[in-house]
Formats: sequence, structure tokens, C-alpha cells
Amino acid sequence: MRTALRMRLVAPSATLGMAAKAADLRRQGKAILDLSAGEPDFNTPDHIKAAAKKAIDDNFTRYTPVPGIHTAREAVTAYYKNTYGVPMPRESVILTSGGKHALYTLFMALLNPGEEVLVPAPYWVSYPDMVRLAGATPVPVPSSPENGFLVTVEDLDRAATPTTRALILNSPSNPTGAHYTAAALDAIMDWAVARDIIIVSDEIYDRLVYEPAKPASMAGCFALHPEHVVVVGGLSKSFAMTGWRVGYALGHPSLIRAMSTLQSQSTSNICSIAQKAAIAALTGPMDCVEEMRLAFKRRRDLALSIIKTWEKALCPTPDGAFYLFPCLSAYYTAAVPDSTALSEALLGEAGVATVPGVAFGEDRCVRLSYATDDATLEKALTAMGDFLGKL
Ligand SMILES: Cc1ncc(COP(=O)(O)O)c(C=O)c1O
Repeated sequence: MRTALRMRLVAPSATLGMAAKAADLRRQGKAILDLSAGEPDFNTPDHIKAAAKKAIDDNFTRYTPVPGIHTAREAVTAYYKNTYGVPMPRESVILTSGGKHALYTLFMALLNPGEEVLVPAPYWVSYPDMVRLAGATPVPVPSSPENGFLVTVEDLDRAATPTTRALILNSPSNPTGAHYTAAALDAIMDWAVARDIIIVSDEIYDRLVYEPAKPASMAGCFALHPEHVVVVGGLSKSFAMTGWRVGYALGHPSLIRAMSTLQSQSTSNICSIAQKAAIAALTGPMDCVEEMRLAFKRRRDLALSIIKTWEKALCPTPDGAFYLFPCLSAYYTAAVPDSTALSEALLGEAGVATVPGVAFGEDRCVRLSYATDDATLEKALTAMGDFLGKL
């Protein structure tokens, strides 16, 4: 069947692909230790589920306004006020079907063909494809494990050109867990304003930051630079709500209006029931979120203690999210020459599912998710270490 030319610009998501391969092997009866998941292994907290059940019983089951009901948009602004002390008007929020769709709609509303978008690498798999679908050109800005996978203003300045329209900053990062301090974000903001570049700040892991690092959001920049920053977030990761598909963008009201126009011609609005659940999540008790965060921190430390025993691996300690991104290229051989071959060998021979770093623009690494129970994590990393030791 002949499909549109634009399908050449986009590949299936590598992370979802690896999860599907692991699930296939499991169906064939193979025991797979899965470190490929990009989602919390926890259940959605009870008070959030209760709000959704009540919405159904109250027959809150019809179309809603395109950017979301007032109270749901206000729940997002309340969250930013309570968490970061940033007051925002309701008109600066649109609710979207997941953070992914916020980014997709945003790029469609913002970018023109010929414009360039700086994408610090390693990057989340979907950014380059989404930028290309919007007709613009993604420009990777490399970082290194030695620098904790963080880019500096100097790195960005070297990559920027007069056609650079936007920079995608993802902190804490998928796949590296790297997290920018508030001071680093401020420096990047000043640089972007001076060059008239819009920062798209993907903060979907914003609650998963591990002390001594402190949470930091670009939302604080709105007051001074409302036309140079858009924050994207969502409930999937922090609230264990991947299946509910609740994301949002916070930005200049005229940009949010443009995104609403696009959304009115695509998804109309996000699920009405999920909006009620989002209000409960964003304005309700946060102790369940804190429990999950502490569990992730403990697992990060457990995983790092095992990875430290792998002699030739280089793995910075990430300050957030639930991923580790060890550099394993010192183990590569003629038979296992890159991250794809290594991930495949790990799956086939050690029964451990990972995601090859090449999908994130860094072929020296593989991504490991520690969003799994301690026993699986320990078993998987031990099996992985044994496998690497034999290469
Ligand atoms: C960096 C990043 N941004 C955005 C998303 C989108 O998440 P969702 O669409 O589930 O809200 C993900 C999910 O993996 C992510 O890792």
C-alpha cells in the first residue's frame, strides 16, 4: 500500500519496539528480565482512581472544552504555584493526550520548514522524528558521560545558526537521568533570549529528582521571558498514570491558543474522566508520589552499586528520572560492535531487555530502566555483568 512521503521522516519508537520484543519472548515461555520499560511499575494511587470512578458515576462522560475543563487547567497552574512558586493564568495551559502529544502539537504549531531545532544528545527517541514531521530540522548537540551528559551554553552556541528556532531541553532526562540545576537553566535561558530561541522544556520527570539535587523548572522564566519558553509535562511518570494519557503544555496564551486550534482538529479534547483524575492527582496528597520517588532513588543506588563492579563501564550518577545510561563501548567486539548488537545479545543470551543507545543518538551506551522491583533489577544487572565479563 502506498503511504504518504512524510512516513519516510519517521520510524517506530525504539523503546516501544524493545518492550514488544521482550513481551514476544515472554509469550514464547522465555524468562525475560525487563529493564527496557519507560514506565513506573507502580499502580495509579487510589485517590486518583476514585476520582475517575466518581466521574463515570456522575456521568462526566461527554466532550469537554478543547484545552481542558477550567478546573483541570487550574489544577496544572496550582501545581506549578505550589511546587515552584510560579503563578500562571489558566489561559497558559492546554491539556493533551500525554506529554508526547503536547510535544507533537507544539512542534506543529511552532515550527516552519527550514528552521532548526537544537536537540541535546542523548535525546528522547521521539524528538527528532517529531521535529522532522513538523518540517523542521533536528540538530543534535552532543554531550558526554564525562560531563554527566549535560550541555553547556558554549556547546549550544557552537551548534546554533541564524535559522535556529528552538532548543529542546529535557531535565531530568530520558535516557540519561541527567538533571540541570536552576542556575544552569537560568544561564541557558539568558543565552536563548539573547539569540531569540524558544526553549521547549520537557519536564515530565520533574518530581523524580534525588537529593542532594533539587527540583528545578523553567516555569520560573515565564514572568521575564513569556515568549521564549514552553514547559511540557504530564502525569505518566510522577503519578504512575501512563495509560491515562494526561499531558500538558504551559506557555504564552497565543501559542496555547494555536495548539488548541490544532487539537480541535485532531483529538478534540483529552478524555473527560482522565481530566477529573488529573485534578485529584495534581491537587491531592503527594505522599504516594514521594513514596514512589524514594523507591526509585533506592533502586538507582542499588543498580549503581552493581554497575560499579563492571570494570570497563562508565556510568555517571543520574540525579533524576528512572534510567541509567552506562557507556559500554569498551566491551564491544567484532561480533558485538555496537549498541544494537549488544542489546540483542543481552536479550537473546542473558535474557535481559535493554534499549540500544543508538535510538537516543549515542551508540556507545545502552539504556537501563530501574522502574522495576529490586529483585528483578538485581538479577538482571548481575546477569548483564556476567555476560559483559565474557565478551
Ligand atoms: C522525555 C519524555 N518526554 C515525554 C514523554 C511522554 O510521556 P507521555 O506521553 O506518556 O505523557 C516521555 C515518555 O516516555 C518521555 O520519556
